[in-house]
Amino acid sequence: MSQEIAVEFRHVTFRRNHRPLVANLNFSIFKGEALVLVGRSGSGKTTTMKLINRLFTPTQGEVLFNNIPTIQWNAIKLRRKIGYVIQETGLFPHFTVERNVGLVPSLENWKPNQIKSRVYEMLHLVGLEPENFAQRYPHELSGGQRQRVGVARALAADPPVLLMDEPFGALDPITRLELQREFKRLQQELGKTVVFVTHDIQEAFVLASRIGLMYGGELVVLGTPAEFMRSPHPEALAFLQCLKPS
Ligand SMILES: Nc1ncnc2c1ncn2[C@@H]1O[C@H](COP(=O)(O)OP(=O)(O)OP(=O)(O)O)[C@@H](O)[C@H]1O
Ligand SMILES: [Mg+2]
Repeated sequence: MSQEIAVEFRHVTFRRNHRPLVANLNFSIFKGEALVLVGRSGSGKTTTMKLINRLFTPTQGEVLFNNIPTIQWNAIKLRRKIGYVIQETGLFPHFTVERNVGLVPSLENWKPNQIKSRVYEMLHLVGLEPENFAQRYPHELSGGQRQRVGVARALAADPPVLLMDEPFGALDPITRLELQREFKRLQQELGKTVVFVTHDIQEAFVLASRIGLMYGGELVVLGTPAEFMRSPHPEALAFLQCLKPS
């Protein structure tokens, strides 16, 4: 792994209505790594992601993307460099699958035939045959299929950084395992920087180069899977108890 830094949190606290949603986040995400954030519901995982693509800006401290504070970035330019798969997929309901997946390439003025071949390639990748799925609308898909369209869309414009918020949550365990493996292979091959949120500790171990554990808005453990296994933090122990023997 290269140790160049893609994203850096410097003593970041984010408050809403005087209440900190995350507090004193102070860590770096390296280029090419897959950082998996785990933590209970409400622990601050999604908030941490939104601080990276400037959907939120820090109340205190700063977040740097490519060494430049996010508040100095043009928000649109910043977000074009960061693919985002949100928890609820965020597809446009009145756009077909093809148009949803091709959205960012078309905003970047790719040629129509380039967009189409990229869209088809991405749909193949996530296991949705374009002949069958490209012309459908989101409401004509199952929840898991919608999630896969969300993943395809985030990958389509080939951004260097991907934020993925429980992207495989609605999938059956078999498809999920397939996509996890495929995604890991792809991430390593393409050298993408990925921040991935999951509740599933098993999934964290499959995908992570490092695991970050959030608890009450703070990052309480950050380390390789092997380091995580040895963490004495009570919350880490609680998560490790959920690991099924394989
Ligand atoms: N826009 C907001 N305004 C006020 N409070 C918020 C906002 N978004 C989230 N919160 C609160 O901030 C805390 C952290 O929320 P966050 O969405 O980051 O949790 P999470 O770890 O992603 O949880 P989950 O696993 O359920 O998705 C929660 O207590 C939540 O209620
Ligand atoms: Mg969340």
